[in-house]
Amino acid sequence: MGRERQMALVGFMQASNVSVYAGSWRHPDSSPDFLTAGYYQHIGQVLERGCFDMLFFDDRLAMPGIYGNSVAETVRSGARCVKLDVSLTLAMIAAATQRIGLGATYSTTYYAPFHVARLFATLDHMSGGRAAWNIVTSVNDAEAQNYGFDQHLGHDERYAQADEFLEVVTGLWDTWEDGAILWDQANARFADPDKVHELHYKGQWYSSRGPLTVPRGPQGRPVLVQAGSSGQGKAFAARWADVVFTNTPELGQARANYAEQKAQFRAAGRNPDHVAILPLTYLVVAETEEEATAEEQYLLDLPEPMASLVLLSEATNLDFSGFELDEPVPQSFLDSATGMHGYIEGIKQYMGGRTPTLRDLALQRATLRQALRFVGTPTQVADQMQEWFEADACDGFVVAATSLPGTFETVTELLVPELQRRGLFRTEYDGTTLRSHLGLPRPS
Ligand SMILES: Cc1cc2nc3c(=O)[nH]c(=O)nc-3n(C[C@H](O)[C@H](O)[C@H](O)COP(=O)(O)O)c2cc1C
Repeated sequence: MGRERQMALVGFMQASNVSVYAGSWRHPDSSPDFLTAGYYQHIGQVLERGCFDMLFFDDRLAMPGIYGNSVAETVRSGARCVKLDVSLTLAMIAAATQRIGLGATYSTTYYAPFHVARLFATLDHMSGGRAAWNIVTSVNDAEAQNYGFDQHLGHDERYAQADEFLEVVTGLWDTWEDGAILWDQANARFADPDKVHELHYKGQWYSSRGPLTVPRGPQGRPVLVQAGSSGQGKAFAARWADVVFTNTPELGQARANYAEQKAQFRAAGRNPDHVAILPLTYLVVAETEEEATAEEQYLLDLPEPMASLVLLSEATNLDFSGFELDEPVPQSFLDSATGMHGYIEGIKQYMGGRTPTLRDLALQRATLRQALRFVGTPTQVADQMQEWFEADACDGFVVAATSLPGTFETVTELLVPELQRRGLFRTEYDGTTLRSHLGLPRPS
């Protein structure tokens, strides 16, 4: 028999001045060294000491500039105004770690399939089989305008295009068979022409001749991650994803979503055990319950509304600058969002039928209220994680940071040992590739 089911843990990282929590750069446990390689390498090493399956960098291709059609408040408040190149940053971490999986977000709307296929295949080789790609379709007009377009593509069209993008990328990854390299120096046969194939893909949006210029990597294909929560997003995940990130803060909702997504995988002809569904989670852990509760209150109060509003406009592609903080925001306005559709659904659930004011929305975006959170001593937090894991609400967690590197140091030092004592989490890596950490087969 295989090992007991264990949870997967992923560190949610930003190559940025700030984490997904808008107050993080103002937290005393955050370091100002976010422009140095050593900062990211240290975090990678901390998470590897904690046996995390993977760390991954989120990304977006513009400074938030939708709110008031300006970046001034973004720059002043530090609301994700810095975004370094994620693949180069990841490569620096790869060189300083041995086992932890390494994920980066790449947009199917603004990059070319050949470029993305080559990048992740290269990263898979250079890291010894640890590469993962978080597939996004991007969300707003500021991104479009950085890439020479006026407007972002419509939601459903983006997903249709993304499907084709994935056909090209996975097709290119498969252009080299295993064992194609011969390295036969005596007979001048570097590789076997029968094992390297052209692709000749022609679709509505993309065409690619191939083959890829990178041989098949240690993982066969890098791990594919996806986080769409709309109908199209979930259908896309069922077709392509090995790992699904969700934002389901309530247990009943998470269980229902988990059952639905696993069923969608089955219906798509895939083994539902070969996909990990992981909710975005804040972990506020301290030695005593009093300390944890005090930290939670501090974290609830720290983000300023303007930073959240800038990020709300970024995610929804809606300019909220016409509303006063205590003014109701009509549903029709929210429904006109062309950014993240699932996010708008999440707001509706959070409001429970009430019409939100702008302040309600600001209090939720990029704050502690935006996702599932577990607060307490290591025992208390482990209890809550265990409850979710054993209730089939998830296969593990994507851990968001409220300070960097602070959160990941605390989680590794205080919480991981408690999860390990319970047999819920590995005490060491038994394989070398990310696929093996996640219990995923290597595609033939
Ligand atoms: C944990 C997590 C990480 C995400 N990372 C990114 C990201 O890096 N870049 C991005 O544009 N969207 C990111 N998203 C958003 C999703 O990719 C997706 O756009 C969003 O859930 C809306 O998809 P939908 O329109 O299918 O609902 C993330 C979502 C979650 C839950």
